[in-house]
Amino acid sequence: MSRSAHPAGPRHADVLPEGHYTAPAEDLNALDPKVWAHTVGRDADGVVTVGGISVTQLAEEYGTPAYVLDEADFRDRARAWRTAFGNDADVFYAGKAFLSRAVVRWLHEEGLNLDVCSGGELATALSAGMPAERIAFHGNNKSPEEIERAVRAGVGRIVLDSFQEIVRVAHIAQSLGKRQRVQIRITVGVEAHTHEFIATAHEDQKFGIPLAGGQAAEAVRRALQLDGLEVIGIHSHIGSQIFDMSGFEVAAHRVVGLLKDIRDEHGVELPEIDLGGGLGIAYTSDDDPREPHEIAKALTEIVTRECEAARLATPRISVEPGRAIVGPTAFTLYEVGTVKPLDGLRTYVSVDGGMSDNIRTALYDAEYSVALASRTSDAEPMLVRVVGKHCESGDIVVKDAFLPGDLAPGDLVAVPATGAYCRSMASNYNHVLRPPVVAVRDGAARVIVRRETEEDLLRLDVG
Ligand code: LLP
Repeated sequence: MSRSAHPAGPRHADVLPEGHYTAPAEDLNALDPKVWAHTVGRDADGVVTVGGISVTQLAEEYGTPAYVLDEADFRDRARAWRTAFGNDADVFYAGKAFLSRAVVRWLHEEGLNLDVCSGGELATALSAGMPAERIAFHGNNKSPEEIERAVRAGVGRIVLDSFQEIVRVAHIAQSLGKRQRVQIRITVGVEAHTHEFIATAHEDQKFGIPLAGGQAAEAVRRALQLDGLEVIGIHSHIGSQIFDMSGFEVAAHRVVGLLKDIRDEHGVELPEIDLGGGLGIAYTSDDDPREPHEIAKALTEIVTRECEAARLATPRISVEPGRAIVGPTAFTLYEVGTVKPLDGLRTYVSVDGGMSDNIRTALYDAEYSVALASRTSDAEPMLVRVVGKHCESGDIVVKDAFLPGDLAPGDLVAVPATGAYCRSMASNYNHVLRPPVVAVRDGAARVIVRRETEEDLLRLDVG
């Protein structure tokens, strides 16, 4: 819980469990720029605004719940990554975090490449005009049809994930008279999450080919022999929501070790290394993510140092940030339906969405913050749990937070940092309709993914 750590501040006797949570010292009306998109603020009436538009206006026009995405912020973050890595490296935005045709166009315009991991993501990318050579195709079980579509389209790289896939892609490429550029995804025995990283036993997962036991070297050996493949590099992705660079340090050391072994055995220096994504963002004020330029500097230094030690030319580096670009750019706007104080425990605030638009709290115990968005309030803070409308007690959006004690049905609340893995992991549980994504920029709003309708649901149900 992000705010429980604050030692001082007023207490709300009705709802705070004795000796447990202490209300925040900071102003509940304040919006921490760490967790909110760049253009978010409050207008003279205290209403939250984004891109120059108030949330009350957005709610009126587009309804709630809605994901509200700050286009200028998205472009700024994409550009910051692009600039930080410069022309000697490539930034592939990980489409799994959130993908739509508008997003593809923004990425294209800002000079980023795109990582896709399914036929659906590939179709979205191509239909919005992303040049195929700027697309990387991922996945641990790409179907032969997906592989064929990707090869035919001319994707810039396919990231191979198994021995069977090496043969499958080579065969498909050859049958189409092509030579497909590929990277081989390996597991380096490092798994990193948030603040810590663990350097044992993480070959025990479905992705990649283990470096341990010589399997990755064997995969390279086989791939180099196949005419349908042009092996351009090695890929490693070590985890999610990482703040500490030491996991990347170990990964880079091991990937470069493999490049050296390949040079020694085959006389070839593979020209690229991809270090994946996984860079963390601030979900609450307690999180301190690094800036793209710091990350770029650290990764480039690590790879350069390791290559110098191995007497290899430094390969072209690529990275695949998803969350770090789109995560902070959006918030979810909800309307409060009920406010239910439970004596001596906390107050349950029910909103008009829930685990169908944000499964991350239920699935990963993820932490979020929340703010009263349609007005300010000087009422005493109360400890709340923001819950959804689904038939499940684990349907929690924000586990523990403070909101003003006068919160009432009809108020709008906003949960920041929901740009990544919320809409892309949304479901129709309880036949709840998935919210729209509304993009705002310079005082104008437009729907980039429309709200699902009951008609959409019934159209799939063919009786
Ligand atoms: N590259 C590869 C090969 C990946 O597997 C992933 C994420 C990324 C890049 C992008 O990672 P990012 O920079 O967005 O952390 N649903 C989970 C996250 C799953 C990530 C899967 N792979 C969540 O909501 O936290």
